[in-house]
Amino acid sequence: MAGRGGFSSKFGFIAAAAGSAVGLGNIWQFPFKVSQGGGAAFVLMYVLFIFILCFPIMIAEIAIGRKTQKNPVGAFVDMGFKKWSVIGILGIVCGILILSFYNVVAGWAFGYFLEISQGNFGIGKEFSAFTADTTTVGIYSTMFMLATAFIVSQGVSSGIEKASKILMPTLLFLLIGLVIYSLTLDGAMRGVEYYLIPDFSKITFKVAYTALGQGFFSLSLGMGALITYGSYVGKNDNMVSSAVMIMIADMTISLLSGLMMFALIASQGLDLNSKGGAGLIFTVLPGVFQNFGSVLGIIVGAAFFLLLSFAALTSTVSLLEVPVAYLVDEYKINRKLAVWGMALLIFLVGIPSLYANGGSDFFTNFITYPGADASSSFMDFVGHVANDTFLPLGGLLISIFTAYVWKKHNFSAEIAQGNPTFVGSWQEKIIHFTISYVCPSILGTIFILTVLDRFFGVKLI
Ligand code: TRP
Repeated sequence: MAGRGGFSSKFGFIAAAAGSAVGLGNIWQFPFKVSQGGGAAFVLMYVLFIFILCFPIMIAEIAIGRKTQKNPVGAFVDMGFKKWSVIGILGIVCGILILSFYNVVAGWAFGYFLEISQGNFGIGKEFSAFTADTTTVGIYSTMFMLATAFIVSQGVSSGIEKASKILMPTLLFLLIGLVIYSLTLDGAMRGVEYYLIPDFSKITFKVAYTALGQGFFSLSLGMGALITYGSYVGKNDNMVSSAVMIMIADMTISLLSGLMMFALIASQGLDLNSKGGAGLIFTVLPGVFQNFGSVLGIIVGAAFFLLLSFAALTSTVSLLEVPVAYLVDEYKINRKLAVWGMALLIFLVGIPSLYANGGSDFFTNFITYPGADASSSFMDFVGHVANDTFLPLGGLLISIFTAYVWKKHNFSAEIAQGNPTFVGSWQEKIIHFTISYVCPSILGTIFILTVLDRFFGVKLI
């Protein structure tokens, strides 16, 4: 590992990988996807997919990374399967796309921190005007990208690890406090029921594939981020238990933030099936903080958006790390140059997303898919391509690669390092079965049907 740096301990890896996983995907995106997907039905699919599809792929990514100690392109070359490095290329493209819009939303979160720090609770009602103000949001997003690039340029162990260790637990405690508060509000139970009692008639194919995309996105899976992070894991660490912890941490934060949001939305008498989408937490939360009174409201509200910004930062760091590790490993480019060059490129790719929320009519109503009843913004479009299509495709390819190209016994041998009882255990049986049969068949089917459904309006189921 000389020269590339490594995590200082097993906990360091878990903290960093959980830092990558927990972010805007959990607190901003999860609740609004639930509200678009009909509530508990979506939550159920999400949890189910995480256990049966995401978990084995997560192990496979970490194993590939640790085996080769390489970036997602170099890893496949190193194992002698050069053709399969398309998985890595796909992942890098996907990471660039995701970070391009993620950075804009991170700019919103950071802007909300600044506004609420100054006691501007009215910002909740002005969400549309706020996002349409591309100059202000552009400045916040630029600051965010600079912070990300700065951390990544410092290298893996010093930057990523330290920040995650302190801030993630703080965020969890704040969230638990807010959940408890929300549940005590009048009318909150209507939201809790919507969130937890599934209406099975709401499970459509679209709900299924957005829940799947959300699972991949939330766990930072399917684009090689965990191959990259796995390359920094020690050979004596037990990756199955690490993966379990990362998955539980990520799911807990999502489920708690959903619970909080639906209790709040219901207590305010608002529509639970919000079609408003991306504005959900930004429109609902400021008013809640205002009710805490001006002093406590500013403290809690500012802390919330600041911690959300930090959670986003540990995620953006992992997104930028993927293309950077590729450039540094494969082209021997100086790390700083790779970081700043990539950051600039991604920022430029993100400009249409910056303009996609009211800033420009063209990017706001960017595309209407065949058979769709409303247009999608450029930002939504990128999410549909990257989160819902590319990530599960990456997962599909990783599962096929692991089971049939790399081969199961080699996969097991890698896991067994640091987990000596693994070979022959029930854990191994489950992981082998899912990675060889369940993941390829279900992900393959969903992938094809998703492309037809979303982009061509062909509804086969
Ligand atoms: N998982 C992060 C979130 O939920 C986003 C993210 C970071 C990501 N790295 C990733 C998503 C890699 C997909 C792939 O906010």
